[in-house]
Amino acid sequence: MQTRQNIRIVPIFNQAANPKIWADFTRLEMLCDTVKYGYHSDDSDKKRIYEGHMDNWTYKRYNFAFAAYDENIMVGFANGFLENRSEMYLRNLYVNPQYNGIGIGKRLLEQSERVANLVVSNMSVISLNGAVSFYETCGYENPDNRYMLKKLPQNLIGVVPVFKTLLGGMRAKIKAPYDRKLVRQCKNQPIFVYVTPDREIDGVAVRTPDKEIKIWINERNRGMIDFYRKQLMQAFEKVK
Ligand SMILES: CC(C)(COP(=O)(O)OP(=O)(O)OC[C@H]1O[C@@H](n2cnc3c(N)ncnc32)[C@H](O)[C@@H]1OP(=O)(O)O)[C@@H](O)C(=O)NCCC(=O)NCCS
Repeated sequence: MQTRQNIRIVPIFNQAANPKIWADFTRLEMLCDTVKYGYHSDDSDKKRIYEGHMDNWTYKRYNFAFAAYDENIMVGFANGFLENRSEMYLRNLYVNPQYNGIGIGKRLLEQSERVANLVVSNMSVISLNGAVSFYETCGYENPDNRYMLKKLPQNLIGVVPVFKTLLGGMRAKIKAPYDRKLVRQCKNQPIFVYVTPDREIDGVAVRTPDKEIKIWINERNRGMIDFYRKQLMQAFEKVK
């Protein structure tokens, strides 16, 4: 039996570096469409879905993606992008039907909401028919047909991955004295921040193209320095 413990949720910082990611997204989307909704996709659907994922990565601002892995097999994913100044849009959320009911969808959604929370205060989704009650369970309201919206809570604490935003437009204040020029050079590399309860960013960490991890900590809170550093280091262990 599949258990929650075996499944890793991984942020995908650079989809273009590994186009198999889009093939995996496409495979899962088509599998769910067939098993859950009885829709049998053909080759033109496959091409359309694949290109949709690629375009999402290439053209959308503030885009994000997470995948769930059982060993090296992708068994679920979530992706989305900034819709407007107040809303992050969850474009897709799919879990392999063999893995339903063990919390993967919820974990993918929670991670996506944490990323959204860094830049806006709402998350939206246009739900497929069969998922409306799933989103309701996860705190979404249903103001208009299948368009669902969640006002994100203010309590964004801990490590959050930063995608193409490259630290621009954060709602939390960056207090860590990071090297802006170096971080800009690390576009699409893994970046994580540590957000404190008062919504300040007291830690910034990046893995450079040379695979070196650089960490900057705001040292005003001396007792927390080692804790922030450890949490940020641990985040890189999950990155593929
Ligand atoms: C909807 C979907 C993502 C849920 O993923 P999942 O991993 O099976 O869901 P989880 O195990 O994380 O369930 C989380 C909670 O939602 C509930 N839930 C899950 N699917 C549900 C559904 N279809 N209807 C009502 N509640 C549901 C679970 O009971 C659980 O509740 P709990 O936290 O009180 O125990 C998955 O069924 C799926 O991929 N569906 C097909 C594609 C789809 O419709 N995606 C949405 C596109 S907008």
